[in-house]
Amino acid sequence: MSKQTLYINLYESLKQQIIEGQYASHDKFPSKRVLGEHLSVSNTTIEHAYQLLLDEGFIYSKPRSGYFVSDIESLPVIYKNQSQHFSEINNTSVKKSDIKYKYAFNMSEIDSEYFPMQQFRKYARDVFEDNEIDLLQHRSSEGLWELRQQIAHYLFNSRGVSSHPDQIIIGSSTEQLINLVTDILKNASFIIEHPSYPPIKQVLDKKQINYIQVPVTQTGIDIDAFKHNNNNIAYVTPSHQFPTGYVMNLKKRTQLIHWAQLNDDRYIIEDDYDSEFRYSGKPLPALQSLDTKDKVIYISTFSKSLYPSCRVAYAVLPQKLLDQYHQLEHKEGNTVPVHMQKLVSNFMQSGSFERHLNKMRTVYNNKLSYILERLEPYHNQLQIEGTLTGMHFTLTVTNGLTLEECLAQAKDNLLKIVPLAQYNSDETAPKFIIGFGGIPQNELKAHTDILIQSLTK
Ligand SMILES: Cc1ncc(COP(=O)(O)O)c(C=O)c1O
Repeated sequence: MSKQTLYINLYESLKQQIIEGQYASHDKFPSKRVLGEHLSVSNTTIEHAYQLLLDEGFIYSKPRSGYFVSDIESLPVIYKNQSQHFSEINNTSVKKSDIKYKYAFNMSEIDSEYFPMQQFRKYARDVFEDNEIDLLQHRSSEGLWELRQQIAHYLFNSRGVSSHPDQIIIGSSTEQLINLVTDILKNASFIIEHPSYPPIKQVLDKKQINYIQVPVTQTGIDIDAFKHNNNNIAYVTPSHQFPTGYVMNLKKRTQLIHWAQLNDDRYIIEDDYDSEFRYSGKPLPALQSLDTKDKVIYISTFSKSLYPSCRVAYAVLPQKLLDQYHQLEHKEGNTVPVHMQKLVSNFMQSGSFERHLNKMRTVYNNKLSYILERLEPYHNQLQIEGTLTGMHFTLTVTNGLTLEECLAQAKDNLLKIVPLAQYNSDETAPKFIIGFGGIPQNELKAHTDILIQSLTK
């Protein structure tokens, strides 16, 4: 547990005792030294926790006498046993950390070395200038108009997606937008890919929305497997299926659109999360750009194209769903700070975003080419798939090593790799997801050496 979480937990626990009336008003509160010793936590942790209690008026201090409990109404709260809570604080603080991996092919990381931090800092400063004072106010729940305009423009030029800014909703994550879409589509039942992006299942499970899982083949989701089913919303990742990396071919794209067009209440959710980075061949058009009947809800994110912690994603709603969206009574809007939206909008408007993407495409392509070239001599043992787009591909070990053996060798080498089996896929041979985006250029060789060492005979 981080120091920060520890002092907050301690503060919460003490606050709870006060609220529950475990202390009478003006009771003496334990001294910081005594409590610190009792709980074996540092002075700093105690200091911070007490400061919060002081700031919020739960305790007060008297010079040379110590701390006392303020005069507040006690509120009966059912809360877990106090000693259990304190022992949790203690236990977590001493818990051994996980294995420290030295190498990792992490899927969710981007290359931070080449991120244009200086430029971004300038845009960040600009949005806090005096002439941007209006940004301090609430804006429309769909998001900042300028950003929605920039996104509409960008999507048209890069993905052939045509939309009016009115149709674009800004959200803080793909998951949050999927959640919103499930609010808009009343009585929906889903078709999702198998294996699939975990948050989609989590949203559907949480909201008890019915879904079926349909296998993904090398050409995309198996449409024949659901075309006679009554479920009406298909969630797909056609540009780079997550996690297999397969790309849906054009025939399937048109078949899927045809399936959606056959019935009024059918829709496709197209999650186009990393299509910016296409390395060879012509990018296949987004489903949304092929559709003529307003059947595609397009979702994408800046998590790959900018950075994962920026938390800006967007959905393009079909025109005919806009009324349903506006009629929603409790929609979660305004989930991205306005300054962040403005910053991204300015970054896009200036052309910096496009330049950044062009540069990063080369950076990622070079990394990918390097790894693939190094793996090539082992093609009898390692089968590679899903390298056309994005920042991960899959690697199947075909030399007879079992999944357990591969993982054990990787662990011995302090290498973290994620098996596709983690996503409940059905492969017989061990298969791994190899994310390469975040590995610094100068560590690429060592990472690749270790990968080969761990998975080959
Ligand atoms: C299928 C898919 N969609 C979306 C995302 C990104 O989601 P977010 O916008 O929450 O960062 C990812 C990230 O890996 C993904 O794999």
